[in-house]
Amino acid sequence: MKTALITGVTGQDGSYLADLLLEKDYTVYGLRRRSSTHNIENIQHLQFDPHVNKNSLKLLYGDLSDSSNLNRLIDKIKPDEIYNLAAQSHVRVSFDVPEYTADVDALGPLRILEAIRESNAATRFYQASTSELYGDVLETPQTEKTPFNPQSPYAIAKHYAFQIVKNYREAYNLYACNGILFNHESPRRGPTFVTRKITVTVARIVKKMQERLYLGNLDAKRDWGYAPEFVEAMWQMLQQEKPEDIVIGTGETHSVREFVEHAFAYVNIAIVWENQGVDEVGIDKKTGKTLVSIDPYYYRPTEVDILLSDPSLAKKKLNWSPKTRFKEIVEIMMKSDLEKV
Ligand code: NAP
Ligand code: GDD
Repeated sequence: MKTALITGVTGQDGSYLADLLLEKDYTVYGLRRRSSTHNIENIQHLQFDPHVNKNSLKLLYGDLSDSSNLNRLIDKIKPDEIYNLAAQSHVRVSFDVPEYTADVDALGPLRILEAIRESNAATRFYQASTSELYGDVLETPQTEKTPFNPQSPYAIAKHYAFQIVKNYREAYNLYACNGILFNHESPRRGPTFVTRKITVTVARIVKKMQERLYLGNLDAKRDWGYAPEFVEAMWQMLQQEKPEDIVIGTGETHSVREFVEHAFAYVNIAIVWENQGVDEVGIDKKTGKTLVSIDPYYYRPTEVDILLSDPSLAKKKLNWSPKTRFKEIVEIMMKSDLEKV
């Protein structure tokens, strides 16, 4: 039986990965940070009381900014696999808290790599790298060979993490790799990321709990995939003979505007767009009511206009390909949020 440690287990990906590894009979440890509220909604369906079920998810307190804690836990557990999914993962917020973002997203992975090295265990390490590294893209579609051009404190911190993983792999012969994941969404997506913000707000508008959806750049395009499928690719990346950095994405790109249109279409509202720039509005075609407006607060100091993956290497090396496509993802999220709201 294998043992895995997942950092960021309370997040979207961490929770799906815990589901997957428990199904595969792993002993799963999840690192959670102390919070004053009970932020375990994504893992609530799992048992984590060892007195009730000894094969439950084992939750441990820790923080990526605390190397003494990471050293102690990794030395004690000596996991076969570590998935580092913990991060200050919000691009817009990284402009507000750049130093904190660098500490957690850049130095956090370094602290784990050092702990692995010191523990002398044959631990395999997965780092949650990101398509944000391509930033102001220098080539489309983006592959493992496309040069990086990051555009935010978040992406620059993740760039350091990408390079330190590669360096430790080469310098110390560690099994360490980067999954370069394009955006992936689900009903467990944090509510401040644009997809979930849209589906929650459309559901609230339908239930007459909110009047309007306020957004920033409607023309940004993303390669949106389905999170439960992406965590399978993470696991597969640690089962290869040799560690390798691999792009995971769908090979399709869609705009925020299209996401809005599909979300409203799910509740039989057709949106028509009027005006331009900050004055642009999305209007209900039938009633003439304004349902979408621009709030410049959501613009970013530097934006990533378009991301589009070429996931051929994932197909070749992992036999992984995306199954759930854009429109279906919108529908899954809308269905879930209509039930939750
Ligand atoms: P998420 O939902 O925001 O989850 C982030 C997790 O990290 C949460 O469990 C959070 O804990 C934890 N965390 C934050 N700061 C921490 C710290 N200082 N110490 C320990 N834990 C900390 O993110 P996600 O969407 O699941 O993404 C997982 C990883 O993949 C992240 O590293 C993200 O940057 C990267 N990524 C995501 C995507 C995507 O589209 N989702 C694409 C590429 C890469 P709390 O619950 O306490 O906040
Ligand atoms: N969050 C947000 N809120 N984004 C908005 C809004 C809004 O109100 N309006 C427009 N957008 C645009 C953003 O400007 C961006 O271009 C796009 O929607 C997607 O934003 P997010 O959903 O916040 O995701 P992201 O692409 O910046 O970052 C996510 O994907 C990365 C992988 O490419 C995060 O999950 C990162 O952690 C991840 O690395």
